[in-house]
Amino acid sequence: MTYPWREAPEGTFAVIGDPVHHSLSPKMHSAAYATLGLPYTYYGIHVPTGEVGEALERLSSLGYQGINVTVPHKEEALNWADVVEPMAARVRAANTLRLKDRACINTDAPGFLDTLGEFHPTEKKVLLVGAGGSARALIVALLSDGYSIKLTNRTLEKAHSLAEELGSNQLSVSESADPDGCALILNTTSASLNKEELPIQWDRAMPGALAYDLMYARPTTPFLAKAFSLGLATMDGLPLLVAQGARSFEWWLGIEAPRTAMREALQ
Ligand code: ATR
Repeated sequence: MTYPWREAPEGTFAVIGDPVHHSLSPKMHSAAYATLGLPYTYYGIHVPTGEVGEALERLSSLGYQGINVTVPHKEEALNWADVVEPMAARVRAANTLRLKDRACINTDAPGFLDTLGEFHPTEKKVLLVGAGGSARALIVALLSDGYSIKLTNRTLEKAHSLAEELGSNQLSVSESADPDGCALILNTTSASLNKEELPIQWDRAMPGALAYDLMYARPTTPFLAKAFSLGLATMDGLPLLVAQGARSFEWWLGIEAPRTAMREALQ
């Protein structure tokens, strides 16, 4: 169920965004509550840019306890919060809010590392494509986990500014999307949303490399289709959706999230 924020009903949890109708979070969290017999609701709430603070006040007065935040409000949400965990501050984005004490965390970055749990590369080296907000969160996560990163982007200048801002000798900018020596090839761009291909030099990919697209699409994205046709391992954005959602659930409720039910709800 999706509502404009001024028409939101009473409830307990929600995701805010603009747009928000495509979000799979309501389905996933509602399945988690149903599985555990919890009397909670989770709605999609449409909030235009510039109205985040006002909308959160309203949702708080309607009884909401926790809010997930999706694009483009993660930075506005961070600025709204009084209590900011270090990871959210570093990533400059909050995707999970607790309304009663205006606290926020970022579950995208640690959730992303959760999804790499079974991945044991011989060398922790990544080709990361894109230089937006998602790229920043994943770079922070990957650096904290000891990866070295080759960053490339359509607008190279943006890759340079991001690298400068994050300032790490494990992070370099590359003009070409050359995956040579990289165990992980990570697409953080929205190119897959428009079914557009990226200029990746696939012929230079290592056998056994993992191609990871933050987007998901049925049956697949052009990035993952290409990687799969070359025999590479592939992962789309659904495991990350579950991982970040489960971490939000656990932070709000203090009980283990039913990850299997959450994943099944998305299939
Ligand atoms: P998000 O917060 O989700 O990361 P964003 O800040 O809008 O979103 O960043 C989108 C990223 O996708 C950018 O790196 C963008 O490249 P530019 O900096 O050149 O705009 C990238 N992107 C979007 N569409 C693309 C396409 N068709 N080909 C290559 N890169 C694309």
